[in-house]
Amino acid sequence: MKSTDQGYGLPARLLHWGMAIAILAMFGLGVWMRTLSYYSTWYHRAPDIHKSIGIILLLALCLRFIWHLLDHRPDDSYLKSSERKISALVHHGFYLLLAALMAAGYLIATLDGHVISVFGWADVPALYQQKGLEDWAGLIHEWLAYALMALVVLHAAAALKHHFVDRDKTLQRMIRSNPK
Ligand code: HEM
Ligand code: HEM
Repeated sequence: MKSTDQGYGLPARLLHWGMAIAILAMFGLGVWMRTLSYYSTWYHRAPDIHKSIGIILLLALCLRFIWHLLDHRPDDSYLKSSERKISALVHHGFYLLLAALMAAGYLIATLDGHVISVFGWADVPALYQQKGLEDWAGLIHEWLAYALMALVVLHAAAALKHHFVDRDKTLQRMIRSNPK
């Protein structure tokens, strides 16, 4: 289960790729739902889905962060020291940006006192209420979402560069536990 020097363990890989797909889908859904007119059948449904998946992602992020602290770090001594520093910065940047993005999303939805219904299975209460701050939370959420996407482009480009240009095992070890 745990990562080894050679590669990432199954929980780390499942959390990485599962969350990556969900986060990219959430970005598309967020941009699309803002274009809907009041008369669209998706006008309420799309934000409900966005918020529900958002809460599940928030739980997944907490789980992932705890696992990241407990897990073994794969050996990265084959990387240059500058590469190790930048990747640690980008990886921690992801955790911070995601936490702030989700907190802002939670605030947009709850500052006016509404609860968030997660697919009708559970209600997340409004912990802090202050009418009038929703627009600020919305603006912050939007900018953080764009900043996150910029970091994803950088991160994916770096992964592809390691695979196709440097031809090392950086991408492979996020795909299989024992890359050649
Ligand atoms: C991976 C996480 C997330 C991503 C990538 C994401 C992305 C986005 C994007 C791109 C928008 C459109 C912004 C705009 O054009 O104004 C948006 C809007 C929104 N998001 Fe998220 N979001 C995430 C998580 C969440 C969470 C956790 C919640 C709440 C529980 C949430 C609630 C909302 C709400 C209520 C809006 C509508 C904002 C408005 O109408 O001003 N989001 N999101
Ligand atoms: C929303 C999208 C993404 C997020 C938030 C994300 C986040 C992260 C984080 C936080 C790590 C550090 C390991 C961990 O804590 O799990 C990581 C590692 C990694 N990611 Fe991503 N990632 C995303 C998308 C991608 C994509 C599209 C690719 C490939 C094209 C990719 C390739 C990798 C690789 C190869 C590693 C291992 C790097 C190493 O061992 O130094 N990621 N990612």
